[in-house]
Amino acid sequence: LEERWLVCADLETVAVAIETMVVRGAPAIGCTAAFGLAIHARNAQFQYWKDFRINFYAGYDRLQRTRPTAVNLFYALKKMSAEAELFDDALSKDECVRRLETVAVALFDDDINTCRQIGQHGLSLWSESRKLRVLTHCNTGSLATAGYGTALGIIRSLHQAGALEAVYVDETRPYMQGTRLTSYELKADGIPFELICDSSAAYLMSQGKVDWVVVGADRIAANGDTANKIGTYSLAVNCQYHNVAFYVAAPLATFDPSTASGKDIPVEMRTPDEITKLFGQQVAPSGIACLNPSFDVTPASLITGIVTELGVLRPPFTDSIAAALNVQRAEGGFCP
Ligand code: MRU
Repeated sequence: LEERWLVCADLETVAVAIETMVVRGAPAIGCTAAFGLAIHARNAQFQYWKDFRINFYAGYDRLQRTRPTAVNLFYALKKMSAEAELFDDALSKDECVRRLETVAVALFDDDINTCRQIGQHGLSLWSESRKLRVLTHCNTGSLATAGYGTALGIIRSLHQAGALEAVYVDETRPYMQGTRLTSYELKADGIPFELICDSSAAYLMSQGKVDWVVVGADRIAANGDTANKIGTYSLAVNCQYHNVAFYVAAPLATFDPSTASGKDIPVEMRTPDEITKLFGQQVAPSGIACLNPSFDVTPASLITGIVTELGVLRPPFTDSIAAALNVQRAEGGFCP
C-alpha cells in the first residue's frame, strides 16, 4: 500500500528489521546481515582489530539469532567471519571496515548476478511449443533478494521471452507475501497476473490451468528436501496428483550440505497474531490456541528440478547437489 525506505544505521536496527520481516526472503536476509556486521564495525570506537574482535562476534551472535530457517543468513555471516579471521591483531579500524564492506558488497553483487543466471536457466526449461501458465507462492523477487529474484526472476525471464500465458500468485497466508509483495512487484513490472487464495491452487490444477509451479527456498538439504514458505509442501503434493511440474529456484548459497535431510531443518514458529489478526485487526476470538509454522519441508521426491546459477539440478538430488557444490567450490564461487 505504501513504499517506505527504512534506513538501518546500526546493528540492532538491522537485527530488528530482519526479526520483524521488514527485510525477509532468504537471500535478502543474508545480504542484510552481512551489511549489518560491516555497519557494526564502522560504528564501533576502536583503533585496532584486537580491541573490537569480541564485539564483532557479539554482533555476529545477535544477527544469527534473528531467524532460524533461511540458511543464507548463516552462510553470509560465515563469509564475514571468515574474512575477519584473516585480520591481524594490529589491523587498523579503517582497514577492517573496508575489508568487511568489500565482502558484504561482493555477497550483494553476487546475489543479483546469480538471480539473473537462475532466470536464464529457468527459461531454458521452456519448450517454446506453447505458452506457460505458472503458479508461484510467497515472494521471491527483488524484495526477497539483492535484486531480480529467484522464482520470480524466472517469471521475469519468461515474461521477457513472451513465454507466459498466465501467472497465478498465491496470497500466501498468513503473512500475505504474495498479496502484498509479489503482486506489487509484478504490477510494477507490467507482468499480467492473477492473485488467488492459497486454497484455490488445487482447483486450478484440476481444471488443467497450471503447467508449472515455481517457488523459492529457504534451505535445501543435501538430499534435496526443501524448506520454503508454509504451503509449499501442499502445492507440491497437489502438483504430483495433477501431474504438474514443480520447480524450486535457489542460489547455491541456499543449499546446506551439512543438513542431511529435511527432518533436520529448523522450522521457525511465528506469533499467533499473524493468524488471529488481519492487518492489526483481531478476527479470531481472543485467547484461542494457534499453531503458526512459518515454513514447511517439501520432500525431494516431489521436486521436478532445482534451478540454480549453474543450471537445473535433476533427481537423484543427492548426486546432482553434491556435484554442483563441488563445481562451485572448484571455481571459487560463493557456496557453503
Ligand atoms: O518468511 P519469509 O517471507 O522470509 O519467507 C520467504 C520465503 O519462504 C521465500 O520463498 C524464500 O525465502 C525464497 S526468497 C528468494
